[in-house]
Amino acid sequence: MSDNKKRIYSAIQPSGMLTLGNYLGALRNWVNLQDEFECIYTVADLHAITVRQNPAEFRKRILETYALLIAVGVDPEKSLLFIQSHVAAHSQMAWLLNCYAQFGEFSRMTQFKDKSLRHADNVNVGLFSYPALMAADILLYQADLVPVGADQKQHLEISRDIANRFNNIYGDVFTIPEPYIPKVGARIMSLQDPIKKMSKSDDNVNSWVAILDKPEDIMRKFKRAVTDSDACVKYADGKDGINNLMGIYSSISGKTMEEIEAEFEGKGYGDFKVAVGECVVDTLKPVQDKYYDLMKNKDYLESLYKQSAQDAEKIANKTLYKSMRKIGFIY
Ligand code: TYM
Repeated sequence: MSDNKKRIYSAIQPSGMLTLGNYLGALRNWVNLQDEFECIYTVADLHAITVRQNPAEFRKRILETYALLIAVGVDPEKSLLFIQSHVAAHSQMAWLLNCYAQFGEFSRMTQFKDKSLRHADNVNVGLFSYPALMAADILLYQADLVPVGADQKQHLEISRDIANRFNNIYGDVFTIPEPYIPKVGARIMSLQDPIKKMSKSDDNVNSWVAILDKPEDIMRKFKRAVTDSDACVKYADGKDGINNLMGIYSSISGKTMEEIEAEFEGKGYGDFKVAVGECVVDTLKPVQDKYYDLMKNKDYLESLYKQSAQDAEKIANKTLYKSMRKIGFIY
């Protein structure tokens, strides 16, 4: 990896199947940024145990997520792509940063509030201190930019706050990271309840599209998508369902909202939903083919994630040791 390119870091949890929201909001940018930047990407398995995981399922999901990241276009020859728990520095740095974060600021995190409501029987301390681990991920690699969907903006802000606080005490240890959020597609909404974000943890399977959904399932989900009674493809306040479908279509086709309105003028929602479904199917098909191919060769995947973790560890340990020295630990 060269020294003069700016550095990118991002991660994704291996919980459940990855969705169209993950793809359009984050993963496409991960792929597009690879030529211009030095990119470091992670399967955030440590974050995922803040909700209870079935061990066999979890193990399987971690590998599937890893393969899917390559299938969408992350290239392990160009970028580092590894499994978070394979680099111990993430957990070590998270502990340090916990001691530079405040109870009050973590209590205000929307994701913590949402998840504690959804998993009321398991509001564990990891769920609470989740942003410290996320800050550790990012700061260990001195990342300049962090490509994420809009829902992660608050966590990015707190990572910046922690980094600034640490730097103010000890000098310039951490690069202050900037969020990199796409203009279109940063917040893909549920197809059934378009004021909620599309999420793999939604019980209603018709509300989200998985990257690996079969074409007929994708088409069914779009045909059933909740819209309104206007029957006019127009981007406007209050038309959440249509706005969301237009956002998906725009994000994939590159067309502006005006161009989409012109394309579907005089046509009904039925035609529009089919067009959106078809463009999603066409985009995901090559990803799916590549994914199933990769999953036939688990040894190859293993060699990739081991090598990447070794390379990542060198960068991460440098920052970890520097931070520990600054704090006053003996080396
Ligand atoms: P996660 O696993 O929930 O989501 C991965 C990425 O997908 C984006 N995303 C969406 N974008 C648009 N519309 C949606 N409906 C949608 N749903 C998800 C997310 O914004 C994210 O970019 N905490 C993170 C993982 C993480 C991380 C990090 C991210 C761990 N360490 C360090 C950045 C930097 C998470 O749970 O993302």
